[in-house]
Amino acid sequence: MILIDGKKAAAELRADLKQEVAQLKSKHNKVPGLTVILIGDLTPSQIYVRNKEKSANEVGLKSEVIKYPDSVEEKTVLEKIQELNSDETVSGILVQLPLPKHIDKQKVIEAIDPSKDVDGFHPMNVGNLSSGYESSIPCTPLGCYLLIKKIEPNLSGKKAVVVGRSNLNGKPMTQLLLKENCTVTITHSKTKDLKAECLEADIIVAAVGIPELVRGDWVKKDAVVIDVGINKTDDGIVGDVHFDEVSKNAKALTPVPGGVGPMTIACLLKNTIDCFKRSQI
Ligand code: GUN
Repeated sequence: MILIDGKKAAAELRADLKQEVAQLKSKHNKVPGLTVILIGDLTPSQIYVRNKEKSANEVGLKSEVIKYPDSVEEKTVLEKIQELNSDETVSGILVQLPLPKHIDKQKVIEAIDPSKDVDGFHPMNVGNLSSGYESSIPCTPLGCYLLIKKIEPNLSGKKAVVVGRSNLNGKPMTQLLLKENCTVTITHSKTKDLKAECLEADIIVAAVGIPELVRGDWVKKDAVVIDVGINKTDDGIVGDVHFDEVSKNAKALTPVPGGVGPMTIACLLKNTIDCFKRSQI
C-alpha cells in the first residue's frame, strides 16, 4: 500500500512555487500578494490563517492578514473587500470561513472580484469550472486532484466515487475528475447503498464529515482512496475513512493528518500566483 505523503507533496509544490515567485519578481519587479480577512476568534480559523500566512511568506508572496472582531458590521467587511478589489498589490483575497451569523456568507463571496477569488467560491468561478473554462479551483479539491495524479497520471475511463456533495469539496472534485475523463458518481447521505457504490470505484474521494465511514470491505483492491475528513472524536482527529481497515485493501491512501491538509494551503499559494499571472497578461 502506498501511503500518500501530503506533507512531502506540499513541500515539493511550495519549492516549485518559490522558484516561480522569484522568476515573476525578476520579470515584473513585483510579487503576488495574498490578503486574508479573519473575523472573530475561533481557534481553528486562527490556526489556519497563521499557517496560510507562514506558508505565503515562505514562498516569497506578499502576505497580509486583516482581523476584525466578531461584532464587525457586514458593511465594513464589504467595503474592505471593495478596497482590496481595486488594490493592484493584492492578487488574491480570502475571507476565512465560517463567518459570524449576522454576516451573509454569499454576499461576502460575491463581493470578491472573481479574478482575485483564490478560494474559487465565486459563482463566476464555479460556473467556469463546470463549463471547463479557466477558473480558480477550490484549494482542497485541487490538492486532492494533484495527489491522485501523482498515483494515477492517466485517469481516463477510471471510475471515481465522490462521497459528499458540498460546494467546498464534493462538487468541485467531481468537476475536476470529469475533466480528466473519469466516470464520476457523486454520492451523499441519501444514497441508497453507499458501500455498493464505493465497491465499484477505482478512485474514492471521501469528503462527507462522518468519522471512519468508509470501511475496509467498501474498497476494491487497488483503489486509490483520498480522505478529506477532519473529524474530532474522543480518540482524537480521524478522517472519513477507516484507516487501518482500508490500508489493507487500497493501492494508495492518504493519512489524516498529513494527507490532504498540507496540500490545501500549498494550493492556496498556487491559486494566488495563478491570479497574479492572469492579471499580468
Ligand atoms: N475554512 C475552512 N476551509 C476554508 C477554505 O478552504 N476557505 C475559506 N475561505 N475558509 C475556510
